[in-house]
Amino acid sequence: MNIIKLNAIDSTNDYIKELIQNQFLENYTIVCAKKQTNGKGQMGAIWESEEGKNLTFSILIKDLLLDLNDIFNLNIMIAVSIFQVLTQHKIKHLSIKWANDILAGKKKIGGILIENVIKSNKEIHSIIGIGINVNQENFAHLPQASSLKCITQKEFNLDELLVDICQQVILNSKNFDSIGQNKYRKIYIENLFAIHKPMTFQFEDQNFMGIIRNVTDDGLIQIEHENDLIKTYGIKEIKMLY
Ligand code: BTN
Repeated sequence: MNIIKLNAIDSTNDYIKELIQNQFLENYTIVCAKKQTNGKGQMGAIWESEEGKNLTFSILIKDLLLDLNDIFNLNIMIAVSIFQVLTQHKIKHLSIKWANDILAGKKKIGGILIENVIKSNKEIHSIIGIGINVNQENFAHLPQASSLKCITQKEFNLDELLVDICQQVILNSKNFDSIGQNKYRKIYIENLFAIHKPMTFQFEDQNFMGIIRNVTDDGLIQIEHENDLIKTYGIKEIKMLY
């Protein structure tokens, strides 16, 4: 495993993106930083993380996606990999919140940001950015976030957890054929936060009650409304209120 450890960087995702423009990087190169000065979250959000307390890292995966239609399956596989490792570490009440947040109970403990770069020879390089809240204890201004330490009262070894997650991602990547993808999808759906449970959603400034029934192959959520109709929504359209 080729791990590049940095004290500080703007974003580990951006660092890999810049490096691959100018030099050859091995498949599964990992860049991990103690501190990110411009950590990026989903949909233009900022990813905040206390220096030295958490895992903020990116893994370069080359040539796994043969087709951009499989992007959501890659998201699923990465979320499932993290879910599997945290389950092995006996973290309770884990779930995956659509699209790919890792929750313990109702609190977010991990997030994933995948960026795909299409090279001139049409190869797809995927930069898998992962943030896991590990030993941070104070989330005063992030009321919906938590960490492994807050949940278990135990301190975790960051290096060991990093290796565990990367090994699982590599293993699952090696089984990313159609059988593997179906298997990851099954684990994803079985552990999807609030699936088959009534909850409140916000759509175009209106709240409504609905039930998550499924997620489509291209990553859209399917929600059953009170009139029994099932409607499909994209990630930017709808918000879960919980
Ligand atoms: C989310 O919003 O849930 C996604 C968070 C992804 C954060 C990680 S931290 C390492 C990598 N580098 C970044 O700038 N972002 C990702």
